[in-house]
Amino acid sequence: MFFHKSSKHRSASVDFAHLPRHIAIIMDGNGRWAKKRGLPRTAGHAAGAENFRTIATYCKEIGLEYLTVYAFSTENWSRPQEEVSAIMGLLKQYLVEAIGKMERDRVKMKFFGDLSPLSQELRDLCAQTEEISRHYEGVQVNICLNYGGRDEILRGVRAFAAACAAGETAPGFLDEETFGQYLDSAGVPDPDLVIRPSGEQRLSNFLLWQSAYAEFYFTEALWPDFSKDELHRALAAYQSRSRRFGGV
Ligand code: FPP
Repeated sequence: MFFHKSSKHRSASVDFAHLPRHIAIIMDGNGRWAKKRGLPRTAGHAAGAENFRTIATYCKEIGLEYLTVYAFSTENWSRPQEEVSAIMGLLKQYLVEAIGKMERDRVKMKFFGDLSPLSQELRDLCAQTEEISRHYEGVQVNICLNYGGRDEILRGVRAFAAACAAGETAPGFLDEETFGQYLDSAGVPDPDLVIRPSGEQRLSNFLLWQSAYAEFYFTEALWPDFSKDELHRALAAYQSRSRRFGGV
């Protein structure tokens, strides 16, 4: 099935029969979106959360298998307390709503990151969301919370070292596939496409291990403005590339 969508910028033609399996998005630009409108940054995050709902639902609709989003990084704690609280509040609101609509939407959800510094309430909501949605088929949405790629790798190394110390395994058994099982993303295929809106062109500690062979797509659009058309353009760009994984 081909889908032609024209926009004022350029038209994007997406082959929906050959979508990437896994898309990862750095939801960047909420602050600038708000500033442009003379609104507080927190209004930008609220608009970003709303857009996340739209894009996640659309990903299920088009049959994407995995969507991973960067919602809060290990570095984001350094933001003003008021902004951190607002993001946590939006996450809570999102999870409460998601749990309420779960039987209808049937979106499988997982959380990547070290959840231990989050409030007990938020951790309980995350656990509940994962538990209820465990058996759902269709898209799996992974939300990265207090996530950092380096932190994830270190936690994986510690867990492997602990397993070695307990005599359950040994250093000689460690290969890429085995190590992948010690990461938050265990069981999830690597992202095929990493999208970063808002004009920034860096990974910012997102899925460092998993993005080894990912294609990147950057756009000037700010995350709250990252529409379905924008997603079509990203998909079309991805489909126009030739992935060689180090071969020829
Ligand atoms: C980056 O934009 C965005 C964040 C650090 C927070 C993202 C959070 C949400 C979208 C809301 C909650 C999420 C869910 C899943 C419900 P920025 O603030 O760095 O933007 P700027 O670079 O323009 O300042």
